Amino acid sequence: MWKSVCLALMCVVLTHAQFPRQCVTPEGLQSGTCCPSPTGLPNDECGSSTGRGQCVSIAADRRPHGPQYPHDGRDDRERWPLRFFNRTCQCNGNFSGFNCGRCRHGLTGPNCDQRSTVVCRNVMQMSTDEKRAFVNDLDQAKRTVHPDLVICTRHYQEIFGPDGASVQCENITIYNYFVWTHYYSVSKTYMGPGQQSFGGVDFSHEGPGFVTWHRYHLLQLERDMQDMLGDPSFALLYWNFAIGGSECDICTDDLLGARSSFDTNGISSNSVFSQWRVICESVEEYETLGTICNSAETNPIRRNPAVNVARPMVQRLPEPQDIIDCLELNTFDTPPYYSTSSQSFRNTIEGYSAPQGNYDPVVRSLHNLAHLFLNGTGGQTHLSPNDPIFILLHTFTDAIFDEWLQRHTAGTVVYPEENAPIGHNRENAEMFVTAPENLGYTYEVQWPSEAINHETYSSHFTLCHPIYKKKTDKIKSVSDLFHH
Ligand SMILES: *[C@@H]1O[C@H](CO)[C@@H](O)[C@H](O)[C@H]1NC(C)=O
Ligand SMILES: *[C@@H]1O[C@H](CO)[C@@H](O)[C@H](O)[C@H]1NC(C)=O
Ligand SMILES: *[C@@H]1O[C@H](CO)[C@@H](O)[C@H](O)[C@H]1NC(C)=O
Ligand SMILES: *[C@@H]1O[C@H](CO)[C@@H](O)[C@H](O)[C@H]1NC(C)=O
Repeated sequence: MWKSVCLALMCVVLTHAQFPRQCVTPEGLQSGTCCPSPTGLPNDECGSSTGRGQCVSIAADRRPHGPQYPHDGRDDRERWPLRFFNRTCQCNGNFSGFNCGRCRHGLTGPNCDQRSTVVCRNVMQMSTDEKRAFVNDLDQAKRTVHPDLVICTRHYQEIFGPDGASVQCENITIYNYFVWTHYYSVSKTYMGPGQQSFGGVDFSHEGPGFVTWHRYHLLQLERDMQDMLGDPSFALLYWNFAIGGSECDICTDDLLGARSSFDTNGISSNSVFSQWRVICESVEEYETLGTICNSAETNPIRRNPAVNVARPMVQRLPEPQDIIDCLELNTFDTPPYYSTSSQSFRNTIEGYSAPQGNYDPVVRSLHNLAHLFLNGTGGQTHLSPNDPIFILLHTFTDAIFDEWLQRHTAGTVVYPEENAPIGHNRENAEMFVTAPENLGYTYEVQWPSEAINHETYSSHFTLCHPIYKKKTDKIKSVSDLFHH
């Protein structure tokens, strides 16, 4: 039983993540083996001498993917990580990690048999000190080199470098590693010099893996930050973006940064985030030269919440009612398991459907709407995690996903096994489990629970947002929101 779980986990250990530093040597890449020893246990690949795991040949997903991607063989991310490594660690029981040196999420102790839980809370309900600490922790992650993982900045064909012996991989900071993995998962398929790159791929959006991909990488970031801080109780926070209106409530200098008084698209110099610089901006270069984003930081974060004049539909945040509506959808995903799916919980929380589930190409709701509302770095898919609002927006999206899993007691059988867009088959669904029982974290959140009649909001929800809203903000119907 655990064997199949671990096989699945193994896939995820290297899925759209990059590689442990020890593995990206010329010899490592030539051998196709990435089986490091746990820290402090030299020459013990995958901790096999203590029963933690073993080095095995891996079988990546062979099931058919959907028709959106017709270029099989052209993209390094197909059947990941086989293009780079075909032997990796398979961890036993409660062990995990690329070297089986860690415990699975939610477990701790030398034998990984003690439960541990962290609580993800609403950023608006933190004390002044907690807010300051969270901002500082993020800033530290932006500046601290990832202790284990590196990014590769060339496609496999060029990975050994011009001389065949200088592997094109480099260090990156913990926060930028998160940004980079997101960029890598959404980047186009390079088709060769002078050819148009192919944009019909996205390994983390527009498919059932949307919720599980983001969950996996948020957990990785949370763990990296726990390690960085030496604090296993560190937890990410969430932003309840479903508050309606056109106010970015977390855009204040004690949190994610107020608007700059000198530049409506910039962040106030009183916020440390005004000093952050983005990575992965040079998309034209990646697409025409076949390069890959590297760790170089360039321009400041841009953000202009609620002021996209060309697109009134994205000038308001999602409404509490939208959450009530999307949680009522019974089906996790529907064919073609894509951004065109109708009556799909996944496509609705992602935000390509109206909150009630009906697909409409002009609609942007929930997660997508919250991104687009930011009108800047956080609203452009390849760049969005550069704005730290991304983290809080996605923990809340994950909270809605977890609430859906709990209310619908859904198991992986409802996750499509095949014919989802490339990268989105069930093989990649080991995060499709309720978080408190299986992954060691819970959300402290009060869900809107009654039909909201636009005049008064259910009282316990109002508690979370005391400064809620005025009657004049009311809308006639939810669909008015999403049409130009
Ligand atoms: C694994 O990868 C190595 C290095 O690319 C290659 O030489 C070897 O043939 C591969 N083995 C299998 C079973 O695919
Ligand atoms: C894994 O951890 C759980 C929870 O503490 C424990 O009940 C179980 O025995 C552990 N499994 C192994 C194989 O150690
Ligand atoms: C990358 O980071 C590691 C760990 O901090 C360090 O030992 C190594 O020297 C760094 N490599 C480069 C090229 O900076
Ligand atoms: C922000 O809004 C402006 C004005 O409508 C628009 O031209 C621009 O494309 C938007 N930027 C982003 C990144 O969404």
